[in-house]
Formats: sequence, C-alpha cells, structure tokens
Amino acid sequence: MYKRTEMEKIVVLTGAGISAESGIRTFRDGDGLWKTHHFADLATPDAWRRNPELVLEFYNDRRKQLLEVEPNAAHFALTKLEKKYDLHIVTQNVDDLHERAGSSKVLHLHGELRKARSTINPDLIYNIDGWELKLGDKCEKGSQLRPHIVWFGEPVDDFEKAVEIVSCADLLLVIGTSLVVYPAAGLLYHTKANIPIYLIDPGEPKFSQTSNLTFIQDKAASAVPKLVEQLLDKGF
Ligand code: OAD
Repeated sequence: MYKRTEMEKIVVLTGAGISAESGIRTFRDGDGLWKTHHFADLATPDAWRRNPELVLEFYNDRRKQLLEVEPNAAHFALTKLEKKYDLHIVTQNVDDLHERAGSSKVLHLHGELRKARSTINPDLIYNIDGWELKLGDKCEKGSQLRPHIVWFGEPVDDFEKAVEIVSCADLLLVIGTSLVVYPAAGLLYHTKANIPIYLIDPGEPKFSQTSNLTFIQDKAASAVPKLVEQLLDKGF
C-alpha cells in the first residue's frame, strides 16, 4: 500500500539583501537607506505623530520604486523548492517580490509596503492601488490610513507564528540579512538542534562555520539558484 511520507520542511528567512539585485536599496550597506535617511524621522510611531506627511512621502517613494522593479533569480529559484519541499518563507522585507516570483507561503514580519491600515483598528488592512497613500485617505470607520509597516518600537505581531514555523524546519536558509534587528534575528535560535543552516550574504561571515552551519559568501542572485539546484538534486 502507498504510504504517504511527509515532505521535508525548508524555512527561508530573508532580508533586504535578497532584493538588492532587483534594485531595492538595503538598509545598512554603504548605500543603505538608513545611511541617508534618519529612521527616527520616518519609521517610528513618534515620527508619524510629528510629521505624517514626511512619513507618507518616504513610503510613497519606496512604493513607487517597488512598482518599477522585478523579482530576481534568487526569488525565482526559491519557488522551485516548492516542488519537492514544504517551503515557508519568513521575510523581513516589506516588498512583494517573493509573491510576484510565485512563492505561495510568505510571512511578512515587518509588514507590507503595498498595504495600508487603519490608525484606529489595526485589523482593517487595505491594498493600495498604485503608489500613493495621502493624508485624507481613510478607512471605512473614517480614520486616517497609515503604511502597513512595523515601525521601530512597535510589536512584531507575527513573531510567534514565525517561531512556530522555524521550530519545525528540517533546514533553515538565511539570505541577505544583517541579523541586527530583533526579534527577527532571534529566529535562528528557535530551530531544532543540529538542522543544517545555510547563510547566504556577500558581507563578512556573522558566525563561525560549524558542522551544521554553512556560510556562502556570495550575492543572492548567484548563490541561491546554485543551492536550490543542489537541494533539488541531492537533498540535504
Ligand atoms: P540590512 O540592510 O540590515 O542588511 C542587508 C544584508 O544584505 C547585509 O548583511 C548585506 O551584506 C546583505 N546583502 C547586500 N547585498 C546582497 C545581495 N546582493 N545578496 C545577498 N545579500 C546581500 O537589511 P535587513 O537585515 O533586512 O525593518 O534589515 C532588517 C530590518 O531593518 C528591515 O526589515 C527594516 C530595517 O529597519 C523595517 O523596515 C521595519
């Protein structure tokens, strides 16, 4: 009798680096957004209270740019893993490039740039048509809409969900994140013991290589497709 075997589960944690080769700036590299913009003026609840117009303008610019770029080889390669594995992507990115490439299970820890939410009821979330969100754009209860972004100082509501996903992983792949922003960076410590972990990043290694941790010092668009082929051909 045919016995159904459970698919192995791969969890991918992504950061801004995976979208860099699509043309989206990271936050902390030499040309990163937080090198030219002061996050406290743009990405905090206090910034929103002080100058909502400036905050809206910043995210409108990001959204306008997002509409002009495409997923890259790394986003597309990850979708292929779904043929063989139970693949879950947990992303810190607010872009929609994983979805546009075709990934089906994507959890956005830090929100989504192409959505807006009500300032009185966080459950009222809307797609933004085009790039612009303005003062005066209101939810169905009549309150101003804000970007659907988790700002510094705000809770990461989906963190527990992410922990649950990561804790079931048989392999963890971490791509293009500086791992300095918590709680997201702490997800690495929620895996089962000794599962294989791959880190892909062209920057300096953040951990020393161990028997289960492999650091691939390369850009996502070249390293991810190669690793994906290896996982599809040979497993892990
Ligand atoms: P960072 O800008 O902190 O880190 C980007 C990482 O990507 C660095 O380690 C780079 O070396 C790496 N990188 C650069 N180019 C790459 C490439 N072509 N391929 C692969 N990796 C590359 O971005 P995050 O770690 O994502 O939060 O930042 C975490 C959070 O901080 C963001 O989600 C954002 C920010 O404030 C919010 O907006 C709420």
